[in-house]
Amino acid sequence: MKTFLTRRLPEMQRLAQADFSLDLWHGPEPPTYSELVAHTRGCDGILCLLTERIDADLLDAVGSQLKVVSQMAVGVDNIDLEACTARGVPVGHTPGVLTEATADLTLALMLTTARHLIEAAGDVKAGRWRTWDPLGWAGPDLFGSTVGIVGLGRIGAAVARRLQGFDVELLYHNPRSSRFAAEVGATLVDFDDLLARSDFVTLHNPYTPDTHHLIDADSLAQMKSSAILINAARGGVVDQDALMAALRDGQIAAAGLDVTTPEPLPSDHPLLTLPNVVVLPHIGSASFSARQNMAAIAIDNLLAGLNGERLPHCANPSVYHGFDH
Ligand code: DGY
Repeated sequence: MKTFLTRRLPEMQRLAQADFSLDLWHGPEPPTYSELVAHTRGCDGILCLLTERIDADLLDAVGSQLKVVSQMAVGVDNIDLEACTARGVPVGHTPGVLTEATADLTLALMLTTARHLIEAAGDVKAGRWRTWDPLGWAGPDLFGSTVGIVGLGRIGAAVARRLQGFDVELLYHNPRSSRFAAEVGATLVDFDDLLARSDFVTLHNPYTPDTHHLIDADSLAQMKSSAILINAARGGVVDQDALMAALRDGQIAAAGLDVTTPEPLPSDHPLLTLPNVVVLPHIGSASFSARQNMAAIAIDNLLAGLNGERLPHCANPSVYHGFDH
């Protein structure tokens, strides 16, 4: 049996004793699509990251012996789940273990953008801090504000729990009411209402064809001119050109983005010239424990799939209906 790992992972020593040959990608950057095709051809297992595109053509090139695709991430929008299911290939992912780390980063982004932490620290370093100034680097309060959570799932709820300490009014928008709403005291509102009433709009919904450019010129126009947009979901949820225009024209006050389109964002991208945006390199889950646990689950999923067992965390459970795994 043969497995391709698209990056060196924590916990990888567990694979050393396994009874299959391991092809490990050593590049500092992800394999290109054609390198991915070349390395996965004939594989029984693929362990990948969100940087790899796993589509129907790739699955056909890999071959019908493929038993599992295991991804070290909870989001699987880079993987054609339908194509995997149609070929009887279970897809592993890593829910739960990055929830708290991502919620921590979301709060960090809210406070960083609202209170101008990046510019303020930069001004200190550059010697531009001359004196305590009555309105120097002042920004809106998170405490006591209205926060609109788009996608009150596990991560959205972890953000909401943290915000209870900030005495905020919590609104949320989901396709259906959330099982977390009562616990965190969040009120379900329609999307337009959430946009119009929130001081902070924070995105935690999955990226699907339905949520592509959910935040577009129209939705930005409905937000308060003092509002701050936070995206810790996927870059594609936001129409980035519309966001740039809104930030430039003062239609909204600021944005804190852990995710962009593309990733990485080229350093000369116009978004990075705007003073009212903070862009991070997709580090929502980058705490030591979260990354360690994500790798451990990804390896559990891989090994289960190779052994013909049900994956502990499967993103396409319908694959088990009608297939004998
Ligand atoms: C995920 O797991 O989907 C996250 O975006 C990784 O940080």
